[in-house]
Amino acid sequence: MTDRTTPAATPPADPNWWRQATVYQVYPRSFADTDGDGLGDIAGVTSRIPYLKALGVDAVWLSPFYPSELADGGYDVADYRDVDPKLGTLEHFDALVAAAHQAGLKIIVDIVPNHTSDQHVWFQQALAAEPGSAARARYIFRDGLGADGATPPSTWQSNFGGSAWTRLTRPDGTPEQWYLHLFAPEQPDLDWDNPEVRADFHTTLRFWSDRGVDGFRVDVAHGLAKDLTEPLRDANPKDFGLPIDGSDPLYDRDEVHTIFEGWRDVFNEYDPPRTAVAEAWVARERVSLYARPTELGQAFNFELTRAEFDATEFRTIIESNLELAAQSGASSTWVLSNHDVIRHPTRYGLPATTDGDDFVSSQGTSPALDEVTGLRRARAASLLMLALPGSAYIYQGEELGLFEVADIPDDQLQDPVWTRTLHERKGRDGCRVPIPWDTTSPAFGFGTHEPHLPQPAWFADFAVSVEQDAPDSTLSLYRAALALRHDVQSGEDLHWVSEVGSPVVHFSRHDGWHSVTNFGTSPAALPSGTVLLASGPLETSVDGSAMLPGETTVWIRAD
Ligand code: NOJ
Repeated sequence: MTDRTTPAATPPADPNWWRQATVYQVYPRSFADTDGDGLGDIAGVTSRIPYLKALGVDAVWLSPFYPSELADGGYDVADYRDVDPKLGTLEHFDALVAAAHQAGLKIIVDIVPNHTSDQHVWFQQALAAEPGSAARARYIFRDGLGADGATPPSTWQSNFGGSAWTRLTRPDGTPEQWYLHLFAPEQPDLDWDNPEVRADFHTTLRFWSDRGVDGFRVDVAHGLAKDLTEPLRDANPKDFGLPIDGSDPLYDRDEVHTIFEGWRDVFNEYDPPRTAVAEAWVARERVSLYARPTELGQAFNFELTRAEFDATEFRTIIESNLELAAQSGASSTWVLSNHDVIRHPTRYGLPATTDGDDFVSSQGTSPALDEVTGLRRARAASLLMLALPGSAYIYQGEELGLFEVADIPDDQLQDPVWTRTLHERKGRDGCRVPIPWDTTSPAFGFGTHEPHLPQPAWFADFAVSVEQDAPDSTLSLYRAALALRHDVQSGEDLHWVSEVGSPVVHFSRHDGWHSVTNFGTSPAALPSGTVLLASGPLETSVDGSAMLPGETTVWIRAD
């Protein structure tokens, strides 16, 4: 094993730091813009390290900041071992790592192994090369079907809509081979059976680890291994979910795990070992396979991003994921919002069963959003999540209680979902609008220039400067919760107090810690003890006893 020591500024080595961490996701292009071009940058993240430290998170996960033509918000990477010049330089990145470590925060970077950008030098070489060449063998090129090759090689669909195959055309206009892209055409899929591809990603993992990065978030981890046996067979329709026997030709194949065993060997070259978390949208039973200690160590559990605000749903998700995490030796993960889903105050403010895409596509007009209910529920759900054993992943702006921006004008939308679905679905821009820092500077303190996505006037009510000194603000709630969470996270225990089926979800942790959420709408009895924190005001009953109102979470220390 090669001994790679960590740069001097790294905080003391605790190989288990990730198990109970609160990780704050930064979408760099929408966080803070220091050079006035309307795009957030690396120096902007560095400038806000004191804010993140005061918030009380343990780690910062950076969504892609690599050179990119932004065909998919940076998830189209043109060079895995550099910083997008629009966002800064490697020196800026080193300064960010140093500042974060100085503040005791870890840095996690996003790694995008399923596909490159079409601007990546490999794809450019593949375009210039002949069918059957080594340059094309890094990607998935195939001849088309039918006498003239005009039919795509399979029925596979892109996640953003339309066929997953695009046909190339020679400069003289003659059509030739097709290439696979499970996402946008500007994101050609790599062929992970090619040893050169595998080796190159090891180089990338070492490149960032050597710069002091503490961990990796692995994009589309479940997509790297594909069954390319001819004839290419149909994939499972997404709506029905993936089979749990790993038989889909495109996703969650058993062979993918050998790739991550190789990555683990690289992570273990470092002290402390680098960590990783898999983005794997697979059946619940199979998520933990990616989280095995011999592989990535942790995997996202996205179930709360899809759940209604409902006691039974939450309880089932919590129980099953804790059990599965324990089986794999990982700790569980919890996510309410990220850059791919509608922000949770908006989800909870829409009638149950509303399709969030429909709401966004109506410019936020239909059905009507009940903001009061949405925010009340969101605060209750967040406080519950932060009481759970495992890692909590929070998304920039979530700590402010931001809603989705649902009325971005069509001509300013950036998400490829908009064009690929022929303007049927607007996509994910509404949660990626640059966040508001204050109410007096241009762009709410994001930067001096017009931001790359328009900010609505109502952002003023949610600015950091407004919320930071308001005791009842969502920011104050998150700060208080994260300060207390460090105590509760000293163990991985959880004991249920409430019965299954109750509208109240009540569990205890060690040292008399209790978290109680009333998912119902009428007040519930408040267990005895000292109230440490509540997501909303408590009520008093006629006999003078304190009650837990509906849609509220309280943390209590039993007397
Ligand atoms: C998952 C990322 O979270 C999403 O934003 C991206 O569009 C796809 N992977 C493709 O990289």
